[in-house]
Amino acid sequence: MIKPVIAANWKMHKTIPEAVAFAKRLKEKFSEPGDVDIVIAPPFTALRSVMEVLKGSPIHISAQNMHWEGKGAYTGEISAAMLVDAGCEFVIIGHSERRALFGETDGMLNKKMHAALKSGLKPIFCIGETLEERESGTTFEIIQEQIKEGLNNITPNDISQIAFAYEPVWAIGTGKTATPLQAQEVHRFIRETIADDLEYAHASETVIIYGGSVNPENTGSLMDQPDINGALVGGAGLDFESFAGIIRISER
Ligand code: 13P
Repeated sequence: MIKPVIAANWKMHKTIPEAVAFAKRLKEKFSEPGDVDIVIAPPFTALRSVMEVLKGSPIHISAQNMHWEGKGAYTGEISAAMLVDAGCEFVIIGHSERRALFGETDGMLNKKMHAALKSGLKPIFCIGETLEERESGTTFEIIQEQIKEGLNNITPNDISQIAFAYEPVWAIGTGKTATPLQAQEVHRFIRETIADDLEYAHASETVIIYGGSVNPENTGSLMDQPDINGALVGGAGLDFESFAGIIRISER
């Protein structure tokens, strides 16, 4: 049985006081390790303060992005070592907003994956098709390519550190969730691709979470699917009650 992961990706939201207030409530409500691994991904500016609040709690912290170089003249960028320094255990890599709005390619993401793993960060590696790709019937091809290219030359030992996030681009922030069966079908395919293409012997233990308009109402039916091991939550992760509700439902 895989322990579910429920992660909130705050994207470009929340000031430091807002992030701290949320983290304090979360720590109070989920003070003991439970049946779900809880992760929050605040903006860079709030990482350190959130880490101070969550110290000693079972809640994990993730960054939303990073650069692949260790240091140097890369204005505006943040390295993996800096994220570790700020208290991060996870980092989201390859979010579709990074791919679509900031031109991140599979090759760039592969460099990020190597750098993150080398620094001891656990990547939450995002993959997913656009509406156009789904409608043209190329979903599986796209997913397979994103996995093969993004994880090129990653060792089995490193694969054990990665959580995969299936986020169909058409379901992000649109209120349109993939149906549980649509999501399950792709999650199963992702697990098979990890086993076959990456030749990873423990794919049955890999955490594969779903993202795209997850809310307390649809969490239960998504989590009922055998290959869905949690959620990467955007909008509903900004609201404390909604996020806590999603965690509670996933604890069943
Ligand atoms: P929404 O939950 O707002 O659709 O966002 C999903 C997402 O992009 C999480 O990374």
